[in-house]
Order: sequence, then structure tokens, then C-alpha cells
Amino acid sequence: MSRFAGRHVLVSGGTSGINLGVARMFAREGAKVFTFSRSAEKVEAAVAELRALGAQAEGAVADVRDAAAVAGAVGRAAEVFGPIDVLISGAAGNFVARARDISSNGFRAVMEIDVLGTHHVTHAAYPHLRRPGAVVVNVSAAQAQVAMVGQAHVCAAKAGVDMLTRTLALEWGPEGIRVNSVLPGPIGDTEGMKRLAPDEASLAAKIASVPLRRMGAVEDVAQLCGFLCSEAASYITGAVIPVDGGAVLNPMPTRMEAFIDG
Ligand code: NAP
Ligand code: COA
Repeated sequence: MSRFAGRHVLVSGGTSGINLGVARMFAREGAKVFTFSRSAEKVEAAVAELRALGAQAEGAVADVRDAAAVAGAVGRAAEVFGPIDVLISGAAGNFVARARDISSNGFRAVMEIDVLGTHHVTHAAYPHLRRPGAVVVNVSAAQAQVAMVGQAHVCAAKAGVDMLTRTLALEWGPEGIRVNSVLPGPIGDTEGMKRLAPDEASLAAKIASVPLRRMGAVEDVAQLCGFLCSEAASYITGAVIPVDGGAVLNPMPTRMEAFIDG
């Protein structure tokens, strides 16, 4: 299947975990993929992996907190692959700590990566987005909708990301640009889940709380992104769509408290 043959897909934070899985899906389906993140080694490895799938792929090093660096990376992507058909904004930061233990700098780090970073990426991409037809997907999280112990900064940040999604959908819809959020639940073998469920007991409890009784796979999120960026979703904008096995219905705060408090 080549739903995205020749399309330019730009993925911020697409060098590991879920976002790299999303980039892989687009590469398999014919897209030219540009990605960037902070680590030169991770960028190099991700680009090599995407090329090994047969895709044209390029990358850059940039921290989403740095507006000028993001503008540089996005400008380079447009120079190499032309107008942007799909933008996935996926860079994020997380650690688990009670609000009383999060310093100003700790809270700022997550707000700056998730919220300001999403603004930097979408703002820099805006002049390069194909009109009509471009699609933006921001990567949110269950924390945007359910309060979780140890996640005050992430809950605030991801709720902010979803409001950016809705506002951009409103502002850019008339130009034929769609903007949606995907909201992954617990996804196995990812950095995010290693931080949220670092031991066997937490992981088992998390799985037991998911209505579908399994962790999600990176590919589950990739398939939702593929749908949202395809013609099949041409009337969907401003939506926040979970891909979580129903996890958002049952956020299991008790076990999290046990894990945080030791
Ligand atoms: P991950 O592997 O750590 O992915 C984060 C990516 O963002 C990496 O490529 C990282 O690369 C990049 N990144 C981090 N900080 C950055 C910065 N300041 N500037 C530029 N790039 C940056 O984590 P993941 O668990 O797959 O999470 C990916 C996304 O899914 C995040 O948006 C997360 O909130 C969301 N999510 C994850 C889960 C889950 O179960 N894992 C659940 C819900 C939502 P560098 O280190 O090279 O910068
Ligand atoms: N508990 C409390 N505070 C913490 C913390 C923890 N577990 N981990 C980091 N912090 C605080 C630091 O103490 C620091 O605050 P301080 O200067 O007041 O001491 C602040 O957060 C910034 O930490 P630092 O390590 O300098 O930031 P960074 O910019 O290098 O990294 C993070 C940002 C902290 C979000 C880091 O975890 C990261 O890079 N994450 C990206 C990958 C990721 O989170 N993947 C999962 C996505 S869901």
C-alpha cells in the first residue's frame, strides 16, 4: 500500500519510540520523511533505518525549545523535500514526581518541550504547509484528560497541546489544513512507559486496568496517524482521538501512588 507516495512527512522527535514508529509507517507507505531531535546519534540512526525501508529520509539536530533551531530544521526539510504534506509533532518530556517535588525548572522543562515546543514546530512549519491538503498531528497523552498522581506537569502540558490543536484547527481550517491530536494510552517498550511503570508489578497493574487488557503497540498509534493523514479522514479536524484500549476510562491512580511513595 502506498497511501503517501511522494508526500513530504516531517516528524519532530521522530528518532525513537512511538514517533519513530509513526515515521516508519509513513516510510513504508512511500513518503519522504524528515525528522529531528536533540541527539545527533539518534537522528543518524533513525534516518538510516528509514532509508533501509526504501524511503528518502533526511534529518537534523534541534531542540524544540529553541525556536531558531526548529526554524532551521523545518526550513531545511522544506528545502530538501518541498512543501510539507504531513507534520507530526511528537517531541515530549516526562518524569514522575509529585507536584510538591517539582521545581520551577522541572515544570518549565516539560511545559517548554511539550507546549512551547509544539508551538515552535507548528509555527515554523506553517509557511511551508501545502495548501490545501496539509495535515498536522500533535501527539498528546491520556494525561490531557485524566488527572494522574505524579504527572501534574504532564497533565497541564498535554492539555495545553490539545487546546493548541483545537485552536490551530479553527485558524487553519479555512486554508484547507487539518489539525488533530492522537492520544496514546500505555504503549509497550517505550521510554514513556519505562518511566510510568518501571517495574513488573506496576506494568501488570497497568495492563489489568486497561479495558482491552493489553499494552498498545507503537504500530497502533502509527495506524491511527495513517488514517488521520489520509483522504479517508478528510472531514476530521480539531479532534483528539485516543488509541488506548480504553485506558483513559480507568487511569488506575492507586498503584501509581504506591510506586511513587515506595
Ligand atoms: P521517546 O522514545 O523518549 O520519544 C521522544 C522523542 O522526542 C525522542 O525522539 C527524543 O529524541 C525527542 N525529544 C525529546 N525531547 C526533545 C526536545 N527537547 N527537542 C527535540 N526532540 C526531543 O518517548 P515515547 O514514549 O515514544 O513518547 C513519544 C510521544 O508519545 C511523546 O509525545 C509522549 O508524550 C507520547 N506518549 C507516549 C506514551 C507511551 O506509552 N510511551 C503514552 C502517551 C503519549 P532526543 O532524545 O534525541 O531529543
Ligand atoms: N523528579 C523531579 N524533578 C526532575 C526529575 C524527576 N524525576 N527529572 C528531572 N527533573 C528536574 C531536574 O531536577 C531539573 O530541575 P532543577 O534544575 O530545578 O534541578 C529539571 O527537571 C530539568 O532537568 P534536566 O535534566 O536539566 O532537563 P533536560 O532538559 O536535560 O531534560 C527532561 C528534560 C527532564 C524532561 C528529560 O527527562 C528528557 O529529556 N526527557 C525526554 C525523553 C522522555 O521524557 N521521554 C518520554 C516521553 S513520554
